[in-house]
Amino acid sequence: MNVLVIGSGGREHALAWRLNRSASVAKVFAAPGNPGIAREAVCVDGADYLSIASANGIDLTVVGPEAPLMDGVVDQFRDAGRPIFGPCRAAAQLEGSKIFSKQFFERYQIPTARFIAAYSLDEALKALDSFTAPVVLKADGLAAGKGVVIPQTMDEARTTVAQFMAGELVGDAGKKLVIEEFLTGEEVSFIALSDGANLVPLLPAQDHKNIFDGDRGPNTGGMGAYVDERILTPAEIDLVMKTVMRPAIDGMAREGSPFVGFLYAGLMMTAGGPKTLEFNVRMGDPETQPLLYRLRSDLGAVLHAGATGKLAGVTLDWSPEPSVAIVLATAGYPGKVRTGDVISGIDDAEATGATVFQAGVKRSGDALVTSGGRVVAVTASGATLPSAIDAAYRAAAHVKFDGMQFRTDIGKKGLRRW
Ligand SMILES: Nc1ncnc2c1ncn2[C@@H]1O[C@H](COP(=O)(O)OP(=O)(O)O)[C@@H](O)[C@H]1O
Ligand SMILES: [Mg+2]
Repeated sequence: MNVLVIGSGGREHALAWRLNRSASVAKVFAAPGNPGIAREAVCVDGADYLSIASANGIDLTVVGPEAPLMDGVVDQFRDAGRPIFGPCRAAAQLEGSKIFSKQFFERYQIPTARFIAAYSLDEALKALDSFTAPVVLKADGLAAGKGVVIPQTMDEARTTVAQFMAGELVGDAGKKLVIEEFLTGEEVSFIALSDGANLVPLLPAQDHKNIFDGDRGPNTGGMGAYVDERILTPAEIDLVMKTVMRPAIDGMAREGSPFVGFLYAGLMMTAGGPKTLEFNVRMGDPETQPLLYRLRSDLGAVLHAGATGKLAGVTLDWSPEPSVAIVLATAGYPGKVRTGDVISGIDDAEATGATVFQAGVKRSGDALVTSGGRVVAVTASGATLPSAIDAAYRAAAHVKFDGMQFRTDIGKKGLRRW
């Protein structure tokens, strides 16, 4: 079959790369793609994905980022009778509105932090009276990773709430707020595939959100991730499936918007068990890179089964080796970034056995140059987590561009489990 990947980042490069190695897949297309994706797929420009799909005889479409999902691309494909793997607009509300998702957790007793939804400054200030610092403030709408602030004092919380409500922080997305209790524990990214009824879990992963080592500095889209079975015990995985993933899939089905696609739970593993911080309705970036690096199953066949209600009995086959992805970012990231710097060494990095998934990369004549904050994710594996970390950093050392920044501690949190 022919498969279309929607998107242009590192996550989509990993999807295209794995799909291109799937026995069931004849040809991969991507819209719009990037230079790395172009090694795996035919890249097509344009925002009318349905026309692209029909013009190229696409049998299955896979959506990478959240924006087209919120715009209803899945509803549009379904109306046209074209298989697509992703949630419809109504189901994408699980990510698109934090208030919707928190109230959904409440309706189905999905464990989460205690919260109050506030629709005005008065309500928000009143709600703050029932919390102690630190307190978590979340903009209701999509805010590209900038919608969550965790003030350390209640004074600061009152100031921040006023800024949100005035539209100063993330515009209209912050004029409704979730105010919630601060939880402590280790964060885990847990992703499962669903066809609306059946659930197939991927392996647990861990992201690294802050720009600097030791989880310091401002939040980014993610500076690296690793995939290691030891992140969760089998008993913890059972508990997450039973208390978080299964009730979410059943709840969405019951509410008339069955969830099809990748359901990503951001979990906090607290002393009182796993609590759901949020759902995303797509794969994570950079978690996708180390996850798909290890996947042995035919991804095309699995996603087609997901898009057509046939995931019952499907299990995934994985390489036993832990995998690690190191993000190399531009100068200035996550603030204003400098672009246009020449990138070298990708081939040398890959000659070590790693794969360099490209994101903020564009072609300029014969050269590859930086075009965005997160440039590449150098991904490798090893027999143990320490050797996987080592392999990824050894490969990453070959890639060079001016102003490059990266974390030197990706995967380190996992070492205590080895
Ligand atoms: N209740 C909470 N307690 C402690 N930390 C939290 C809580 N909710 C969110 N966070 C932190 O804030 C980050 C962003 O929150 P999240 O709900 O994932 O929103 P988004 O990814 O949309 O910005 C989380 O990865 C986590 O580190
Ligand atoms: Mg998050």
